[in-house]
Amino acid sequence: MIPVVKTVEEVRRYVKSAKKEGKTIGFVPTMGFLHEGHKSLIVRAAKENDFVVVSDFVNPTQFGPNEDFEAYPRDIEQDAKLCKEAGADIIFNPEAPEMYDNALTTVTVDKITKVLCGASRPGHFAGVATVVSKLFNIVAPDRAYFGEKDAQQLMVIRKMVKDLNFDIEIVGCPIIREEDGLAKSSRNTYLNCEERKAALCLSRALNIGKKMIEDGEKSAVAVKNAIIAEIEKEPLSKIDYVEIVDLDTLDPAERTDTGILTAIAVYIGKTRLIDNFIIEKVDNK
Ligand code: PAF
Repeated sequence: MIPVVKTVEEVRRYVKSAKKEGKTIGFVPTMGFLHEGHKSLIVRAAKENDFVVVSDFVNPTQFGPNEDFEAYPRDIEQDAKLCKEAGADIIFNPEAPEMYDNALTTVTVDKITKVLCGASRPGHFAGVATVVSKLFNIVAPDRAYFGEKDAQQLMVIRKMVKDLNFDIEIVGCPIIREEDGLAKSSRNTYLNCEERKAALCLSRALNIGKKMIEDGEKSAVAVKNAIIAEIEKEPLSKIDYVEIVDLDTLDPAERTDTGILTAIAVYIGKTRLIDNFIIEKVDNK
């Protein structure tokens, strides 16, 4: 079985010993209840590094008071199986007091955390930036792997790493989808049968928007309106946001050929799902 370690000291011991043998360290931070999306990150980390640490910690500080911290699914035994199959070497699965012992320090990334998910979930990205900083300091990896489904999170982490001079390469990995297009997420398990079908409105709407851009639509507002119209056809959906923003600044974009992130958050019943696509800047030379 793969070692599941509970303390900071134990992780550091494993990592120190791997480094002593000249091994490179790959790190995949997760909140557990692992699926094929996480697996793809671990497989990639195992391919590109000699020793892979997966953290499995439902971080309380990134959940708002009325969010799903308590209900968030947990299954460490299944996670351990998937981690082993995917090529991880250890799992760091701390309890909250091991991570937060009367902590008074928070890491905040300004501006780009105020929009999209940051606007709907105040404090969320401070929770993410703080726990990821702590995990980076505990694991001290050479590379860390994050999914592009959480596109804003990935941008926040990249900015934090640059601003705070973490000597860690951040690797973004493509969104993994179910066969019918739904982006894989631990929160998909909240959906009942009817909601699971309804949830397809996210990927369907994004595909419509993407196709418009591929067919030459330059107006961001036209694409945004088409996406909204498609989601609103689904009676079980309630839009949190649909935004087309600049890929670097996350400011609203006017055109679709300047490097954009199209990001959406939609409630299906009580479950909030996110999805996105990125279109890199079109070089008109
Ligand atoms: O993406 C996640 O699962 C979490 O936000 C992360 C990066 C593990 C921090 O808790």
